Amino acid sequence: MANRLDSWHGSWFHPYSFVDLSVVREPSGEGDDAFVVDVSFRVAGRVVVPVRAEFTAPGPRTVLMRITEGEGATSVVETHATPLTAPDHAHPRTAVVEAVVAASDRRGFALARAAAPVLRPLMRRTAGRLWRDDLAYAERRWTLRDTGRFPG
Ligand SMILES: [Fe+2]
Repeated sequence: MANRLDSWHGSWFHPYSFVDLSVVREPSGEGDDAFVVDVSFRVAGRVVVPVRAEFTAPGPRTVLMRITEGEGATSVVETHATPLTAPDHAHPRTAVVEAVVAASDRRGFALARAAAPVLRPLMRRTAGRLWRDDLAYAERRWTLRDTGRFPG
């Protein structure tokens, strides 16, 4: 979840999926927890989809991403983490559930929906790589923090 709220990490940690990332607004505090990011998602090769996305945390274990401008505006991804083990467990485990509601007014979106059976494995592979990399990063950070070699 911390990775998801580290808006900058997408450009240097997932360059195969995200290009031209810039954080255009940071939270101002006092009830405002929104990060706003301009980023292009690399679909394949040089084909990229530029969007503006807003990240908020409506709960301590929930992160909400809303596409506010660009392709798929109004689409939402909600990510929720649920601990599966006690807080002091030697090997903590967490279930992460993600709900995606994708929307688009473009005519091409209907074609994309028709091509979903073909696109789905590609998207699943991309999402899988992002999750594997984020999990490895989170585990490294946890280990470094646990051994006092990482602040935070
Ligand atoms: Fe990530």
